[in-house]
Amino acid sequence: MSATPDTSTTSPIGRSTPRVDGPLKVSGKAQYTSDFHFPGTLYAVPVEATIANGRVVTLDTAAAETMPGVRAILQRENIGTIVRSTPGPGFAGICEERRPPFEDDVVRYYGQYIALAVADTFEAAKAAADAVRVTYDKDTPNVETELEADDEPEVILATFGPHHRVQSERGDADAAFASAPVTIDHTYVTPAETHNPIELHATTAIWEGSTLTLYESSQGVVNLRGVLAQMFGLPTENVRVISKFVGSGFGNKLFPWTHCALAAAAARQLGKPVKLVLSRKMMFQTVGHRPRTQQRVRLGATPDGKLLSLQHDYVYHRSMLDGHHEDCGETTPFQYSVPNLRVTFGRAKRHVGAAADMRGPGAVPGVYAIESAMNELADALNIDPVRLRVINEPNIDEGLGIPFSSRHLLECFALGAAKFGWSKRTPQVGSMQQDGLILGWGMAECSWPAGRFAAEASVQLRDDGTARVACATQDIGTGTYTILAQLASQKIGVPLDNVEVALGDTSLPDGPLSGGSLATSSVVPAVFQAADNAIASLLRIAMTTPGSPFEQRQSADLAFEGGRVFVKADGPAGGVPFADVLHRANLRLVTGSGKSEATFGDATPNFSTHSSGCHFVEVTWQPEIARLRVSRVVTVIDAGRIINPLAGRNQIEGAVVMGIGMALFEHTSYDPQNGAPINSNLADYVVAVNADAPPIEVYFLEYPDTAMNEVGARGIGEIGLAGVAAAITAAVHHATGVRVRELPVKIEHLLA
Ligand code: MOS
Repeated sequence: MSATPDTSTTSPIGRSTPRVDGPLKVSGKAQYTSDFHFPGTLYAVPVEATIANGRVVTLDTAAAETMPGVRAILQRENIGTIVRSTPGPGFAGICEERRPPFEDDVVRYYGQYIALAVADTFEAAKAAADAVRVTYDKDTPNVETELEADDEPEVILATFGPHHRVQSERGDADAAFASAPVTIDHTYVTPAETHNPIELHATTAIWEGSTLTLYESSQGVVNLRGVLAQMFGLPTENVRVISKFVGSGFGNKLFPWTHCALAAAAARQLGKPVKLVLSRKMMFQTVGHRPRTQQRVRLGATPDGKLLSLQHDYVYHRSMLDGHHEDCGETTPFQYSVPNLRVTFGRAKRHVGAAADMRGPGAVPGVYAIESAMNELADALNIDPVRLRVINEPNIDEGLGIPFSSRHLLECFALGAAKFGWSKRTPQVGSMQQDGLILGWGMAECSWPAGRFAAEASVQLRDDGTARVACATQDIGTGTYTILAQLASQKIGVPLDNVEVALGDTSLPDGPLSGGSLATSSVVPAVFQAADNAIASLLRIAMTTPGSPFEQRQSADLAFEGGRVFVKADGPAGGVPFADVLHRANLRLVTGSGKSEATFGDATPNFSTHSSGCHFVEVTWQPEIARLRVSRVVTVIDAGRIINPLAGRNQIEGAVVMGIGMALFEHTSYDPQNGAPINSNLADYVVAVNADAPPIEVYFLEYPDTAMNEVGARGIGEIGLAGVAAAITAAVHHATGVRVRELPVKIEHLLA
């Protein structure tokens, strides 16, 4: 990142813009959820089940209750009513673990909350939680890693609705595979992975009469308000959720978890604010994870590389309670041109916490499997892997039979290959060397859907010459504050410094989830319309204020640009700043509202809307000491117009680093004896960090996708992760000759 001012464009959109909230973050003034303190706050610490399958028989709280500073030990008998929430339109009512906390005495996963200690201090609450004595009637947990689909109907009901287990089908995939001259048939495995945002999940709940305010680290305050209102039987307007700064989420903060309801129930009962901050260990147990997947991919092709058949059959694990669907087949039906295709899935219940969306849910493990198989096919055919993809590039979305709104994948390949120097690759294993190291080069493509959630926004013009843009969305570290400021600045024509951004609060106009890489594309129409409406009101005021230079003008005569109202015929120089118009009318401000319609979930779309791209990866391999490093990555992304290239590049770089972790480090292991995630800390659950990050070059193509919005921006939060692991395992094979089909790649694999 560079602090050099970007002078490449006069428009705020498309300009590399340092984060407007950056100074607050680096100076420590940004308040994250657990930074909020209120007089009389009590601290809550949950008691975690130490079995994964069974029943609580006795819960002895006597000793804990009498400890100093302890206000209450809450459990099933005394917590009061917490009802279930039920899904409604959009994302209303959705939470990943449908069972409210303490609903029954059954333990279905290790770490499930079974009681809650509340005390004057965190330390007292922790000591009391530890002093609760529990006996169980326990059974052996099933955390078996080999996945076989449970016997389930052809259509299953998941969190967001029904899914056909035959997800997509065309032609006769079996017959075409059976007669194909060249075939690939392998199973690829991705482990359970745990989201590890550095900011822990945290809730502070405050009741005032029958209104509930919740400070929460959330990727979706509007949804959270709806769930809490249902759980506590309140009108929606009696619940307010505030999430001003979020130390990332990766998907596990999209929907509320059981600790939110526990904090709210405790605060209700004790009449005081209650703060509950999860431990890192709890982050592995009760707030979701990417489920383990096992994916069989069968490809049939002609000797010159044309795909004849593609079959993708996947199974993923889930908890005893959740309805999460890990859609590994999300991209499979359209990513390649192939006449015969079938995608199916199944699920396997395990005694683990609820699975949840994690950055690029479904597509990330799915693309890993399909791209790995394509790389194996390229090797089997002795065709360059880029060439194989070019041969099979589709003209339309063959899964839906509709055109792509904007797809420039071949140009991504050309640019990426040129920047990487791909033409110098020699395909033989171990054939490339540099400075005494063996080099491995691999590549893969990536894809992620695009669309819009419904969104509302407001824009105000104020008499001090500043503007305010407001939307109840969130900034999870990705740069939404800055995007909103850029969008408002573009329309109003005031510098970014003069735009106040308000988000992360349900008292603002309903905003979208910070999820699915959809927040940016969702807010564009709402903010633009809000600004247009604010400007239209301002012009009406200018025309009707006695003594105004624009009195009696027709609106068609007037224009607004660069923050000034002027007569079109006279040009902007003759106009007046909007603050003057407001002063003359004795107004503090004028407000406009705007709305975006959802495209996400559209059953009959006219276009297939996706971002796509590719990664070229180099690894170095030292067989003498079994040292493997990712040494270089070139990534090209076609994600429509990029509103903030600085933050955009940063999103892709971060995703590539996460992809290195996915390929080489990340996996959550469950202890077969008690079902506990045993590496539940940041020392044993290894993620890739800065020290592991090689030089990463990121390029965007910047074709505006006008099916998305006026700006042509899609989204970039997730796509950078898809495909990285497949490119790395291909590079590992090229360097070492070892084909690893179960992530992460371990030293043991390479020593074999
Ligand atoms: Mo993303 S998994 O939608 O936060």
